[in-house]
Amino acid sequence: MVRVAVLGAAGGIGQPLSLLIKLNKDVTALHMYDIVRCPGVAADISHINTNSTVSAFQGNDSLKDCLTGMDIVVIPAGVPRKPGMTRDDLFGVNAGIVRDLIQAVSDNCPKALVCIISNPVNSTVPIAAEILKKNGVYDPKRLFGVSTLDIVRASRFVRDIRPSFDASTQIPVIGGHSGNTIVPILSHIQNLVNLSEDEIKTVTHRIQFGGDEVVQAKNGEGSATLSMAYAGYRFVSSLISAINGQPATECCYVDLSVDPAGAEYYRQLGASDLAFFSVNTSIGPDGITSILPLASISSFEKELVKAAVSPITSNIAAGVSFVNK
Ligand code: NAI
Repeated sequence: MVRVAVLGAAGGIGQPLSLLIKLNKDVTALHMYDIVRCPGVAADISHINTNSTVSAFQGNDSLKDCLTGMDIVVIPAGVPRKPGMTRDDLFGVNAGIVRDLIQAVSDNCPKALVCIISNPVNSTVPIAAEILKKNGVYDPKRLFGVSTLDIVRASRFVRDIRPSFDASTQIPVIGGHSGNTIVPILSHIQNLVNLSEDEIKTVTHRIQFGGDEVVQAKNGEGSATLSMAYAGYRFVSSLISAINGQPATECCYVDLSVDPAGAEYYRQLGASDLAFFSVNTSIGPDGITSILPLASISSFEKELVKAAVSPITSNIAAGVSFVNK
């Protein structure tokens, strides 16, 4: 039985994500934390007739009670993009939010599995790692950058051009979680869909910049929330299953030192000396058990990996120096 806290629970992602977590029968307690609107949202969700109890926590002083005893902490707190913004433009606000929330995680539930949704994920995950290290509680197995929306989009966008493709088929996406750092491995499904070179280029670009479609369509009202809640829930439900003894396989943005032997495969692909990278992982009750290689990768995809390295290197450096400045 699993206890889950959502930080940023009253937001566009936090609300539907909390709703989905409330529906999971293996959850016993759902703690919803935000700096605004939390009591109302939590009261609303609490009436759903699943067995878990829902509690609202609002404001800094309630973080200790919110986090104590939690098995999983999910963080979608922070500002979303507006048209014309990149995820890196969110750094100024979201870096500090993630830093402070992770400080509270360090103090109150350092053994929890921590899922970072707040953007820019390429930087907010290194920020979280630095804070956990400073507090002497860092365990890279337990820290995840949630890039699942890229994986969800990959399958859906392929289905858009190949109606016979089953959209629930998983396509690995590695690299990072922004623009050209997102590297979909379409070669995994090439035997099913037989995409032309042009189709591969077009759908790859759409997966990399799919978030912009939502930002533009929402026209200043934010970025993906419902599809992100679905993707975030998919990732959290994998962790819940793993805690309950059913190992999961998920691509996510992790500290490669978690499994140096497994990471070597990605380093050979071009991830060189990167500390963090989205990779295929196996997850057990205590977090990541190993980094898994890919079944195949094309030369086009290898070039994409190489192009992702420099921006991810800068994103990681920005996160680390933010904490240590
Ligand atoms: P939102 O503005 O609708 O909700 C954010 C919530 O965070 C608000 O309720 C706000 O009150 C709360 N918040 C702000 N400061 C806080 C703090 N210090 N402690 C706790 N809560 C705090 O934004 P939305 O659309 O839910 O997006 C949230 C984040 O998720 C953004 O950074 C966005 O870029 C990111 N995102 C990540 C994706 C991914 O694939 N990893 C996909 C889509 C969005």
